[in-house]
Amino acid sequence: MTGSATATGLLGDTPSRDYAGKLRRFNAFAEPEIRQAMASLALKPDMRVLDAGCGTGEALRWLADEVGPEGAVIGMDLSVPHLKAAHLIAPENGALVLQGNMLDPPIAPASVDLVWSVNAINHLRSPAAGLDALLALIRPGGRLALGQSALLPDMVFAWDSRLERLVNEAVRQYYRDRYRLDERELTWIRAIVGLLRQAGLRQVHVRTFMIERVAPLRVEDENYLVEAIFRGTWGDRLQPYLSDSDYEEMMRLCDPQHPDFALRRPDFHFLQSFTLAVGHL
Ligand SMILES: C[S@@+](CC[C@H](N)C(=O)[O-])C[C@H]1O[C@@H](n2cnc3c(N)ncnc32)[C@H](O)[C@@H]1O
Repeated sequence: MTGSATATGLLGDTPSRDYAGKLRRFNAFAEPEIRQAMASLALKPDMRVLDAGCGTGEALRWLADEVGPEGAVIGMDLSVPHLKAAHLIAPENGALVLQGNMLDPPIAPASVDLVWSVNAINHLRSPAAGLDALLALIRPGGRLALGQSALLPDMVFAWDSRLERLVNEAVRQYYRDRYRLDERELTWIRAIVGLLRQAGLRQVHVRTFMIERVAPLRVEDENYLVEAIFRGTWGDRLQPYLSDSDYEEMMRLCDPQHPDFALRRPDFHFLQSFTLAVGHL
């Protein structure tokens, strides 16, 4: 691997960084909508596809389902722990899993029909450099598909928009402080369509899929919301950013043992967006 993650990454990724649990939970939760987004690409059976920033590798299986046994799927990620998790599921589909930096990928130029990359390009300090490096891997006529969740704000507490707004702002402030970033650095990915156009791609189109859940939830939904969001993204770390009473209310709503637990309310209604922007070389 060349290029250090500390020099290129915005969000603290390194070859040893591990948030595999969060990635597994997100993919189990969002599988139906991500597969729907993938199906909208109408991949052909013999295509060669790269998942850039593949994380724990769930999408490798879904891409393999799309391109069939004559196709080929390659996963690439910076993180060794994420790739270990991806290796565990790779034998099922025969995907090749590689450690590498998106800015200097260990893959032959013009050798893939599609680069698929979800929630990864927003981790780079220089998106233009990342896109250039990925575009160099695509054959003439091939495509780049960038997936990004939560370009629209999530709705978690449908019955209390005030608390939700304060919690969302607390999360953003937490990340700005943690990675010493300003608001623009955390949100430039909103210009995803412009990024594809500036990179010289043609026939750019975009579609947003809504991930929508109400009670009763699937186990995968409950695991993601409780473990990845309520505990992993919110929890104690937000205490300095909320008033005592708002923090206590948030914690009650997020506590599966509490009678006010959000996910058991009959009015629970969760919305999250997943946007797929696609351009042709
Ligand atoms: C939020 S995760 C998304 C993972 C996966 N695409 C998914 O949707 O579950 C971002 C991934 O990008 C990887 N990553 C970050 N910077 C990278 C870089 N410069 N080159 C390759 N992978 C990188 C991280 O290690 C992480 O696995």
